[in-house]
Amino acid sequence: MPAKGAMQTRLEAPALEPLQAGPDDVVAVEAVTRRFAPARRGGEAVLALAQMSLRVARDEVVAVVGPSGCGKTTLLELVCGLQQADGGSVRSEPAVYMPQRDLLLPWAGALDNAALALRIAGLSRTQARERARPLFARLGLSGFEDQRPDALSGGMRQRVAVLRTLLSGRPVLALDEPFAALDALTRRDLQDWLAGALAAEPRTIVLVTHDVEEAVLLADRVIVMSQRPGRAVEEIAVARPRPRRDTDPELVALRERALKALHR
Ligand SMILES: Nc1ncnc2c1ncn2[C@@H]1O[C@H](COP(=O)(O)OP(=O)(O)OP(=O)(O)O)[C@@H](O)[C@H]1O
Ligand SMILES: [Mg+2]
Repeated sequence: MPAKGAMQTRLEAPALEPLQAGPDDVVAVEAVTRRFAPARRGGEAVLALAQMSLRVARDEVVAVVGPSGCGKTTLLELVCGLQQADGGSVRSEPAVYMPQRDLLLPWAGALDNAALALRIAGLSRTQARERARPLFARLGLSGFEDQRPDALSGGMRQRVAVLRTLLSGRPVLALDEPFAALDALTRRDLQDWLAGALAAEPRTIVLVTHDVEEAVLLADRVIVMSQRPGRAVEEIAVARPRPRRDTDPELVALRERALKALHR
């Protein structure tokens, strides 16, 4: 165990070099390249990621922030095995992807949507619904069990989608801007809820967001990515106790640091 001072130095030094992946890492992305072929003959290939590295320890929440188009969604899809890297390596325990837009089944009710992963895992509809119901209630969705997605508000749809992701039973959650589409109040509500849920039951999470405030509020570490081709340019440890307040001066300072890195 290093002395406290040493730890502080290590955590606060910008980690431009990828840190060594440890045996406890649940996700290890090493120097990954991802290139998309031109959409048409004679078009240009897009280099989405170049030398991108990321590691996530068990029960750690790592936020990834970066400019639009820098490859954040691509990174999550690589972690979840939905795409293959063109170079470098990706290793992860089974991960579930929560897409940027909530992709609920339009014909199914809210509770059935939330319980989808449990059905896929082989539970009966009744069993799946009963398993999902307590969390459904905790998310303030009681009374809306059988509403179809188009009869729910945006915030409610997002809660159902988060719930469906949590119930997947996979060890790694890859959340792609889960709260971006929400109004500020609802977003804050859901952030608080997620922070509370994580305090009660830690999970391994890669959280993509373009909101640095959300990143320092929820994450143990924040990775800042460059413009495309995306790679990690700064790593910020958020060693603050929870629950966190966004007015905490240390959080404000970390937010500023992330913003600076983002605009470099
Ligand atoms: N399937 C694909 N085919 C071709 N190009 C793609 C594909 N997916 C992504 N790209 C390109 O790769 C780059 C990175 O896209 P990606 O969606 O990962 O960015 P992002 O960081 O998630 O952006 P945003 O913040 O806007 O969601 C973009 O230039 C995009 O056009
Ligand atoms: Mg994206």
